[in-house]
Amino acid sequence: MDKPHLLCIGHRGAMGHAPENTLRSVHKSLDLGVLCMELDVYYVDGHIVVFHDDRLERTTNGTGYICDKSFEYLRSLDAGDGEQIPTLEEVCEVINSQVCLNIELKGADTVAPVAALITKLVANGWDVGDFLISSFHHQALLEMKRLSPDVKTGALIRGIPVDGAKFAEDLGAFSVHPALDFVNQQLVDDAHARGLKVFVYGVDYLEDIAKMHAFGVDGVFTGFPERVLENYIQKKSW
Ligand code: G3P
Ligand code: MG
Repeated sequence: MDKPHLLCIGHRGAMGHAPENTLRSVHKSLDLGVLCMELDVYYVDGHIVVFHDDRLERTTNGTGYICDKSFEYLRSLDAGDGEQIPTLEEVCEVINSQVCLNIELKGADTVAPVAALITKLVANGWDVGDFLISSFHHQALLEMKRLSPDVKTGALIRGIPVDGAKFAEDLGAFSVHPALDFVNQQLVDDAHARGLKVFVYGVDYLEDIAKMHAFGVDGVFTGFPERVLENYIQKKSW
């Protein structure tokens, strides 16, 4: 029997196997065979850097808020196993348009530099459809749509909205990205009825992967891509 479809999106690269949001994590995700990957970005000191937290302590040997630092300082840090904090451009060089890339906008002022980088990458042969820009900052998604109407956006949430997925439709989003601990069948069905894809984050255990498939979601973000890849068919597209 054919395997069912469930898109595997490598979370922060493959954070279950390597220091999150580092080149090592990106390589690991690619080695495992993902066709889609998610990374978090901040805009700091004129550079788009790939990083998750607003502070440095949890994942590096640095201290303080990332946005207060110089790029030189950030590059001096150990982001795990001797890895440096990478730039988004460096990550894109490694990916080399092999996989679809979900860029999650974390801090302030990320929209214009990320839009500019995507324009440059598309001019160099990337398919604009391979990008998906997401954020909990929904105004940033509106701004991205204004600057780059062709770029898909995904609305992140951690909670249960009162009007189902209407907020994502109102944003002109391509997809809604709920958290595992809040997603329910009603939200999934409502999103689909509105023509939105549903990608759920924080899905690391086999029982949750199976539960999300039973809900009919389109894809899951996981730190352990092999747990999805072994059981579900993939295609390189959102
Ligand atoms: O983009 C999906 C997921 O990464 C959102 O939450 O905190 O892991 O960035 P977080
Ligand atoms: Mg993220």
